[in-house]
Amino acid sequence: MPSFRPADAGRAIYYRGLSGDVPAFPMTFEGWETAARERLTPEAFAYIAGGAGGEHTMRANRAAFDAYRIVPRMLRGSLARDWSTTVIGRRVPSPLFAAPLGVLGLVHPDAELAVARATASLGVINVVSTAASHTMEEIAQAAPGGARWFQLYWPNDLELAESLVRRAEAAGYGAIVVTLDTWTLGWRPRDLAHAHLPFLRGSGIANYLTDATFRARLRRPPEESHEALAEAVVRWAGIFGHPALSWDDVARVRDWTSLPVVVKGILHPDDARAALAAGVDAIVVSNHGGRQVDRATAALDALAIIAPLVRERAGVLFDSGVRCGADAVVAIALGAHAVLIGRPYAYGLALGGEEGVAHVFRCLLADFDASLVLAGAGSVAEADRSLLGG
Ligand code: FNR
Repeated sequence: MPSFRPADAGRAIYYRGLSGDVPAFPMTFEGWETAARERLTPEAFAYIAGGAGGEHTMRANRAAFDAYRIVPRMLRGSLARDWSTTVIGRRVPSPLFAAPLGVLGLVHPDAELAVARATASLGVINVVSTAASHTMEEIAQAAPGGARWFQLYWPNDLELAESLVRRAEAAGYGAIVVTLDTWTLGWRPRDLAHAHLPFLRGSGIANYLTDATFRARLRRPPEESHEALAEAVVRWAGIFGHPALSWDDVARVRDWTSLPVVVKGILHPDDARAALAAGVDAIVVSNHGGRQVDRATAALDALAIIAPLVRERAGVLFDSGVRCGADAVVAIALGAHAVLIGRPYAYGLALGGEEGVAHVFRCLLADFDASLVLAGAGSVAEADRSLLGG
């Protein structure tokens, strides 16, 4: 079990300051984003930072947080300062998880391997994307002791879906997270302006290129030549999304694995009910960080409606727009059992590989810890709506 204690992170910085040291990386989301922009190619930055259409959803995600205020309570006695949380029946040390982000090779050569090591060192669950730059087995190997879940982009090839799920279980992933909101790509003007979709250039498809089922569909091995890789990319483009995926399909994952099943991308209460009826273990309330549907409802507003319907029967996770510890407090107070962090750690990766990702999570965990304890709650379980004013 990692020994990181969030409360120590700030103290360590102040003490190092006595010998003249200041942190190597910025301390806020705005700082991480600005510094990452300076380091990344314009195409890579656009891919991370951008959203769908006019990016109204991204702004709505942030505005939704602004509608809540924490109302701190005083003199609540000795606070436990226990930030572990229970999700899908397991106690996990950190209520913040790493959201699945594809193609991190655009950001840093160590990509998902660095994320795996940094998250493992802090007890943060790492949700690994199907669209990773490294294979799920390499990522597992990079941090064998770390807790990891596998995010599945369900292809329109049932045998391939099964193969990916079985590989994830064999490689020690602890849950299957089926992303429902990306059966086709959103309209993303920043990427379009650069005419840049990484997958078409052979990035972010490592899990497919190494999959025996996928390879069996190819005329020749993709590593044989540029032309062979180009053929594999075309094949990938043909199978990536599954427009006709149904709740019955989701239930079918149970035939392939005994792992818990999570669905990601829920925004409507009826979809939350359908997920429960399909027997999922948890849902992720998310609008994919505003990358799919422009003018979509803010994920936090959806959480406020959905969490009370679901949280006694299944896990409720949340992402989209979390930028600081207090944001995570608000999401937990509204009923999330855990919160996924997206772009902030991609920027950390750009700034310093493994150490940059660890820095971002240390900051967010310490900020979360300070915000929650000063609000008057000693544990995630104690954080409920009573902490919030309108
Ligand atoms: C994503 N997201 C995502 N989700 C998923 O299920 N599979 C994936 O491969 C990816 N890839 C991806 C790449 C990049 C660059 C971004 C920014 C996002 C969505 C991600 O898991 C999460 O829902 C959002 O990132 C949350 O929003 P914030 O915190 O980034 O605003």
